[in-house]
Amino acid sequence: MTVEEKIVFSEATLKLFEILAEEDERVKDFLVKRFQGLPVSYTLEEWAYNYFIAHSVITAATVANPGSSMTTEFLYEGLSSPSPIDNYFLQAKAGQAVKARLVAIEGELPKIIEHYRSNQKSVLIGNLGSGPGRDIINTLHHYGDILSVKAVNIDKDKKALERGERMAAGRNINHLVEFVQEDFLKHKPAEKFDIALLIGVLCPLEPEICIKYLKIIRHLLKPNGCLIASNASKKMIRDDPFTCMIMDWMANWRLIHKEENEVRQIFKEAGYEWSGSFTDSYGFHIMGMGKMIP
Ligand SMILES: C[S@@+](CC[C@H](N)C(=O)[O-])C[C@H]1O[C@@H](n2cnc3c(N)ncnc32)[C@H](O)[C@@H]1O
Repeated sequence: MTVEEKIVFSEATLKLFEILAEEDERVKDFLVKRFQGLPVSYTLEEWAYNYFIAHSVITAATVANPGSSMTTEFLYEGLSSPSPIDNYFLQAKAGQAVKARLVAIEGELPKIIEHYRSNQKSVLIGNLGSGPGRDIINTLHHYGDILSVKAVNIDKDKKALERGERMAAGRNINHLVEFVQEDFLKHKPAEKFDIALLIGVLCPLEPEICIKYLKIIRHLLKPNGCLIASNASKKMIRDDPFTCMIMDWMANWRLIHKEENEVRQIFKEAGYEWSGSFTDSYGFHIMGMGKMIP
């Protein structure tokens, strides 16, 4: 019995192994050994690392800037002719779940906007660590001519914001979205937010740091404002340990996977009243929701 048969690998992983076996057996051997926690030589690891970078734009972009929205944008949009390794990331459950998170947010956000709109004239959303802000741009696009719902995308990455500006202009909603290049932890808003989004930011952070972030974000919210913050769940590591291993190995993506009760505790300790959560369709990301306790 081969190693691949003993461990139950996903269909996407087996497909990757099949292609690697034809192209470079050493890379496949490295991945299997690494996953099993077996020793590998430095030479083999360096060979595999270089192979991944040279054969995958997703790897190259993520290694160059591990926290960048470049990775999430590739997973949202896909690639016209992905290499086998890129195809693996696009097909793996953990990769698909990132896109599913976007879908879930775009499904829930309008309900929250409508809740505020039923009680007040205008709604202002702060998208913290927005990347280009695709979630906001797709959502506000549906609002068309409704000028009372606006958003501010805040990110320290200028290139991501420029990308967002192009996306917003392409959807004819650039008058509804402002782009601010800043560390959101230092942001002093001209007007405080009704809704703050914090998506794909807390995942690598220990709970104590998440609490610090959420306490700072309180200062960005109106007294009845709410926060939606995503975290990677423990289901992600249980259901797709192979992709988690690759991301850790290639880009030091050591996510602090959290159960719903841990996310709720973070909200509570940061001074938010828990109003519930929703997940992506894989259950790999938990979006906690809370209202600021004044
Ligand atoms: C993984 S991306 C997620 C982007 C987007 N929220 C999404 O869900 O597609 C994380 C983004 O957070 C930004 N970021 C992280 N910490 C930040 C901070 N303190 N201030 C501003 N931007 C930050 C990074 O520059 C990056 O664009």
